[in-house]
Amino acid sequence: MNVHNSSNDADLEFFKSGELSVEDIKGGIQGSIGRKIFFYEIIGSTNTIAAELAEKGEAEGTVVIADSQEKGRGRRGRHWVSPPSVNIYISILLRPDVEPKDATLITIMAAIGCTVALRRITGIDVTIKWPNDLMVSDKKLGGILTEMRIARKRIKYAITGIGINVNMDSDALPDVIKGVATSVKMETGMLHSRPEIIIEILNEIDHWYGILKEKRKRELLSQWKELTSMLGRKVKIILGKETLTGLAESIDDEGMLIVKLPSGASRVIRDGDLTFLR
Ligand code: BTN
Repeated sequence: MNVHNSSNDADLEFFKSGELSVEDIKGGIQGSIGRKIFFYEIIGSTNTIAAELAEKGEAEGTVVIADSQEKGRGRRGRHWVSPPSVNIYISILLRPDVEPKDATLITIMAAIGCTVALRRITGIDVTIKWPNDLMVSDKKLGGILTEMRIARKRIKYAITGIGINVNMDSDALPDVIKGVATSVKMETGMLHSRPEIIIEILNEIDHWYGILKEKRKRELLSQWKELTSMLGRKVKIILGKETLTGLAESIDDEGMLIVKLPSGASRVIRDGDLTFLR
């Protein structure tokens, strides 16, 4: 296994994997997220490594980056396609002082950071689909998976994992996600620098995480509403064995989705698989 801990100054060799350079990334970090980076060329899942580091007492803001993952995971135990040299796979270790009931706000905060960063650096009109999808014209560009350990009714740590399709071509997409997934390259026709995007994302998340820590919930939720394209749209939501349709109305103070049902009643959705209906 090839690992490089960039915080170790005695070991400041120039470390590259394709064009994914930890030193380049570290040079662009402005806040406390990404001050310490663990880089792997190939790993099971960056979220797993970040959780192990958290258990060992690693500090908040530490980031794990991989060039490829063998066991990348998405929501609901799904596999996250993680080929080498093309995409972004990162996990951020956070120790937020928020109650477990507000945990969705961590994903909301990260989705805002990613969307603002991606819009600025790629010019693509990225939007957020609740709870964790980064979308372009109804195709999935990336996703966020927040996993956490709760002890004594508090979040001991949260790992926010981010996967973004950057330079992947459409023929590299597995058949099951062809037509529903996209990449920055597929949208712009150009190759993009992964370090530049990672720097922008980590700096932007640093900013929005500060807002979350200061409990400025309103600001977070109103920014989310500006960056989503789903409010007012007809949606289908699969909740275990139940499927419902309705209009995506808003999100509440805990980041839960409020859906207006055909009966006129509103229902709060805590988790579920959501697709848009025409
Ligand atoms: C989803 O949309 O289902 C969430 C996908 C999250 C994928 C990222 S890639 C980096 C991190 N490590 C993982 O194993 N998963 C997340």
